[in-house]
Amino acid sequence: MSAQASSQPSTPSGKPVLEFDDVHLSFGAVTAVNGVSFTVDEGELFAVIGPNGAGKTSIFNVLSGVYRPQRGRVALHGTDILGMKPPAIARLGMARTFQNIELFSNLTVLDNLMLGRHQHIRYGTLAAIAWWGRARNEELRHRERVEEIVDFLELEQWRKMPVGLLPYGVQKRVELGRALAMEPRLLLLDEPVAGMNLEETEDMARYILDIREELKIPMIMVEHDMGLVMDIADRVMVVDFGTPVATGRPAEVQSNPDVIRAYLGGDGDDPDAGRGAEGGSGPGGQDDAENEGALA
Ligand SMILES: Nc1ncnc2c1ncn2[C@@H]1O[C@H](COP(=O)(O)OP(=O)(O)OP(=O)(O)O)[C@@H](O)[C@H]1O
Ligand SMILES: [Mg+2]
Repeated sequence: MSAQASSQPSTPSGKPVLEFDDVHLSFGAVTAVNGVSFTVDEGELFAVIGPNGAGKTSIFNVLSGVYRPQRGRVALHGTDILGMKPPAIARLGMARTFQNIELFSNLTVLDNLMLGRHQHIRYGTLAAIAWWGRARNEELRHRERVEEIVDFLELEQWRKMPVGLLPYGVQKRVELGRALAMEPRLLLLDEPVAGMNLEETEDMARYILDIREELKIPMIMVEHDMGLVMDIADRVMVVDFGTPVATGRPAEVQSNPDVIRAYLGGDGDDPDAGRGAEGGSGPGGQDDAENEGALA
């Protein structure tokens, strides 16, 4: 499907939160992102799906400034961010979680979350010495905010434990907390439930929905768990070999023949022909037995 489901820009500027326009990124002969365009609106949960190696993480790396594409335009709240360094993009409000958890495993949950506050801390060493009171007040304010996030994600019982000792599902939640501590205006979630059991997946789905409903932070979620994507995403973009295949509401995308072909390979009739994707079922939805061979 080529048509993008209609959605109205809803920021005060009248622009979408994110404009990703005709982006091309290659590594030598490998084209990771090939003319991908999409927008994300205020309050939207936008999912990006596609087989392994389709270019999903590369899109995130372009968004966060890790990769610089050869062509295209990327704007966050109307500000062009291509060419900016990752810390500058983060300061504009882009925060992410990673496909493989990136936390300081020897530090506690609280300290990892405090690191997420880093860009909001205004006092330097000198200020801390000269205006001890002011620096102390600011520190307290950040600690309060971190405790609010601990409450929000129900991390109380682990708050003073080193992250490396925590169950995997909790570590993924801490990483989400670290991203939230950055007060993002756009949150990028790279496979938030990868490797999780059913209970952990349901918990994570609930937190993602709470972020949308209560904090109203727009999100882009890359995920192989089709059941989750089809359940909670507002819109879904499918990519294959770096190329956009379809964008639309979950139900539209699910029944799109090009999408089924991208997952199953060939004419869509032969499940063994697919390239597959880690963990999750086919675009047809939860635990679709016919798709499992292609995607497991
Ligand atoms: N730094 C890099 N150097 C060379 N090739 C790269 C680099 N990063 C990504 N690629 C290639 O770009 C393509 C897309 O990779 P990417 O990691 O974006 O896929 P993905 O959709 O996130 O896959 P997965 O579902 O397995 O996480 C792959 O062929 C990959 O090998
Ligand atoms: Mg990836």
